[in-house]
Amino acid sequence: MKPVEVASSVAVGIFSAAGLVWGLQYYSRKRQAAKKAFGRELRQAEYCFAEDFCLCNNGSFAAVPRPILQLQQRLIAERERKPALWYRRQYDPKWFPSEGGHNRYAQAVMAVAEFVGAKSENLVLVENTTTGINCVLQNLPLTKGDKILLTTHGYGSFIKTVQYVCEKTGSEAVVLEIPVPIESEDDIVKLYADALEQHSNIKVAVIDHITCPSAILMPMERLAALCQQKDVLVLVDGAHAPGQVPLNLEQLPVDFYVGNLHKWLFSPRGCALLWVHPSHHDSIRHVITSHSTYAPTLMERFCFIGTRDNIPYYCATAAIKFHHDLGGLEAITAYNASLCGWAADMLAKAWSTEQLAIPAHMRAPFMAIVAVPETDAYPACPESCGKLMGAVFSHSGVIAAFSHFNERLWCRLSSHVYNCQDDYYKLRDAVLQVMQIDQ
Ligand SMILES: Cc1ncc(COP(=O)(O)O)c(C=O)c1O
Repeated sequence: MKPVEVASSVAVGIFSAAGLVWGLQYYSRKRQAAKKAFGRELRQAEYCFAEDFCLCNNGSFAAVPRPILQLQQRLIAERERKPALWYRRQYDPKWFPSEGGHNRYAQAVMAVAEFVGAKSENLVLVENTTTGINCVLQNLPLTKGDKILLTTHGYGSFIKTVQYVCEKTGSEAVVLEIPVPIESEDDIVKLYADALEQHSNIKVAVIDHITCPSAILMPMERLAALCQQKDVLVLVDGAHAPGQVPLNLEQLPVDFYVGNLHKWLFSPRGCALLWVHPSHHDSIRHVITSHSTYAPTLMERFCFIGTRDNIPYYCATAAIKFHHDLGGLEAITAYNASLCGWAADMLAKAWSTEQLAIPAHMRAPFMAIVAVPETDAYPACPESCGKLMGAVFSHSGVIAAFSHFNERLWCRLSSHVYNCQDDYYKLRDAVLQVMQIDQ
């Protein structure tokens, strides 16, 4: 709303109660309209992108909206006015009480817990999903002969985390191959059921809620229930879930859930949640030992990990409000999912390829996978992914993700509230031109 419009609403309100009501209704109508202004308008108003930069892969590092960035900068400035006090208040509240007794970490935990349907005593905030996954895997009481179940669609670095844990504990990794096409959820559930049948010593399954290279929305409830029946612990890699799919963590029969707030939930980078079932509270500590490693509660153990930057956590409440003010998950999904579906159809047609063959309801709502044309310069191998991403960016300033699985090269595109159709036309043309395919 422009200042002049505010002034006119206020002026009318001064003269009569009816005028005031009208002014408020007018303001509210403008807010409603603002809620719908996704795409280019939102990009201009709320993001800091350079004019020549086009992000078609929010899924990796995302983009922080301007109001959240401004809050982060304000908090940094506030901290630097009295830096020691900032940390003393957080870590030593007995001698350095905050005004009103606020504990910003606890407040952020409560806001995030409410957003993801969790009890705040079961949830902590950590730096990123990588940290959360390590906090769990490195603290599990695994011994020689135990097995950890992963899949071929798991996040690359967690294969190394599991390898490291196996080296230390004598446990073994079992990597479940998930072939595509997938006809139905039953295919996936059967693959897990067979693996659990075949390997009696699986102690923990690391299950992606949304897979990284293939953007598959896994049938989480069914897989978790299956593992629970077999006494297998479930650690969910939900890096892409908060802000993209509804979550009700207390209702999910899992042991641990980790998810980023800085991918789809607008928080600054360096903000993720770790949910721990109460039966495991005693065994889970931050992977970095620090002053509070032996503190009694989960929250105390995770709050003070050396001198670190807690400000991304303190922005979580504002990030959730930003999400809410855009209309919440329903409005955001309506925009993102339809734009992403349109873009995937358009790209597959333009590139004469196809989308990943999985049921529509197993596609991540804000991400899609389209096969990339095959050329000699970009053969279907892992090395082509980075090479193509770099070439597309140098050519047109477009960032999209490329992955290699099922012996094909795929483009993983995504849609978030700042994207518009033009972004995908740029991506289409950049891939065709870089690959020297006639249009
Ligand atoms: C499925 C999945 N898990 C984990 C991660 C790692 O997240 P972070 O770098 O925030 O630790 C990613 C990052 O893209 C991911 O896609």
